[in-house]
Amino acid sequence: MKIISSIEELRDHLRGQLRTAFVATMGNLHEGHLSLMRLARTHGDPVVASIFVNRLQFGPNEDFDKYPRTFQADVEKLEKEGVYVLFAPTEKDMYPEPQEYRVQPPNDLGNILEGEFRPGFFTGVSTVVMKLFSCVQPRVAVFGKKDYQQLMIVRNMARQFALPTEIVGAETYRAEDGLALSSRNGYLSVEERAEAPLLYQVLNDVANEVRGGQHKVAQVEQLAMERLAGRGWKPDYVAVRKRIDLQPPSAADMEQGAPLVVLSAAKLGATRLIDNLEI
Ligand code: PAF
Repeated sequence: MKIISSIEELRDHLRGQLRTAFVATMGNLHEGHLSLMRLARTHGDPVVASIFVNRLQFGPNEDFDKYPRTFQADVEKLEKEGVYVLFAPTEKDMYPEPQEYRVQPPNDLGNILEGEFRPGFFTGVSTVVMKLFSCVQPRVAVFGKKDYQQLMIVRNMARQFALPTEIVGAETYRAEDGLALSSRNGYLSVEERAEAPLLYQVLNDVANEVRGGQHKVAQVEQLAMERLAGRGWKPDYVAVRKRIDLQPPSAADMEQGAPLVVLSAAKLGATRLIDNLEI
């Protein structure tokens, strides 16, 4: 595997590749990321991965500085997966001058749910993903459904800018007890790690109630939030939304069986976990 940090060298190295499948990451790779690499392989060749902890998508009080950086271990994992090129730019490579042009998602998608609690997050994500796409020029890019809103925003961005990149969503990779794998799980204490699968259980219970015919979603959401809070979590949201646009379903949507997803974010101790489940 070739490790490249400069955009120019990356372009030289990938020149003429028409079927590149790309996976963007911030490193600290776990099985969830590796499952994205394996899915990428079924969609194109060569597989290119990136590792870049993108300052633009972190708020001033978020964990940019302490975000886990495990470069050497990541390289070994990617080599085992047969990744062809790892693009690992420094901040200077990626942002040689202040990044003043930004890609801003529409308010009704970028400023709800995660966007409400992490202002500017999706502008930071969209901007770096657009720039990574410009560097790698992939035919396909794989993103995990664990970051459901991010996947939708990237997919809409690719469509609206007519990018020549197909966006593929990958199923969430879970530990045996249901906890969605995430680099931030590493922040959890032993006790918190034992408690963490509750988030997925709550999502399953919400999904089952809705599937069972409960149309009063606000009530179900409220009870789910209270259940988490009762166990010491600080939930930001538990929200049943339409899969098509992540807006709340109307009574008519519920009647007509619109495809839904339940999304959640909650703090357990100092660690903020997110998860979701298609209903
Ligand atoms: O999901 C992530 O790890 C990041 O948001 C991404 C897509 C690599 C952009 O920095």
